[in-house]
Amino acid sequence: GPVVALIVAAGKGERAGGAVAKQFARLDSRAVLAHSVAAFRRHPAIHQIVIVIGEGQEAEARAAVGDHHFVMGGATRRESVFNGLAAIASASYVLIHDAARPLLPAAVIDRLLAALDENAGAIPALPVADTLARAGDVLGDTVPRDGLMRVQTPQAFRFADIVAAHRDWPADRDATDDAQILRAGGYPVAIVEGDPALEKITHPADFAAAEARLSARTS
Ligand code: CTP
Ligand code: MG
Repeated sequence: GPVVALIVAAGKGERAGGAVAKQFARLDSRAVLAHSVAAFRRHPAIHQIVIVIGEGQEAEARAAVGDHHFVMGGATRRESVFNGLAAIASASYVLIHDAARPLLPAAVIDRLLAALDENAGAIPALPVADTLARAGDVLGDTVPRDGLMRVQTPQAFRFADIVAAHRDWPADRDATDDAQILRAGGYPVAIVEGDPALEKITHPADFAAAEARLSARTS
């Protein structure tokens, strides 16, 4: 079956602020959302792109990526993914991606798809470089960082398995990504090397960092 890219772009981008939600804000020559759409479009293994947006975001989404059939998201990321999965008629694999991670190297897609030959799921991740510590009123215990990873998207899954895992996940429980949902279904998830470019745009200053990466890449 086809390989589908599912991009969740239904958030409000509250921490990033700005006049429009961050996924529709401009980053260099196009909207944040348009960057990862372009990356998936030019990757030969991707057959279809499903984009999930929030209520009232149609005009901004169309301005960002042109005419497209948009799926309506939910109140949480998990619900938005669920609605996106429900809109896919048939797929062998699905790559679930945050619109807020605009710079998506083709090599990451390649590594994820290669890992799916032997795993139900695969995620890109990078090791933690900073010292980690618990915060209290004052500094708490340092947390050993050995074996801790920063998990990115896209996350790649066998379609039938991630759909089943999402269906079984308790509706009242939050999940920040889909790999934890697949794991809860009893499937092992492979880790492939992530990429610093995949850093998520969360706060206002992240736009400048993404722009700097982009100009370093194209110059
Ligand atoms: N997302 C979504 N539906 C939601 C919430 C988030 O599709 N109900 C998407 C966002 O659009 C983003 C990705 O999930 O591409 C990661 O979420 P996050 O970085 O938290 O984005 P926002 O929720 O938009 O930002 P904030 O939490 O600051 O409001
Ligand atoms: Mg959020």
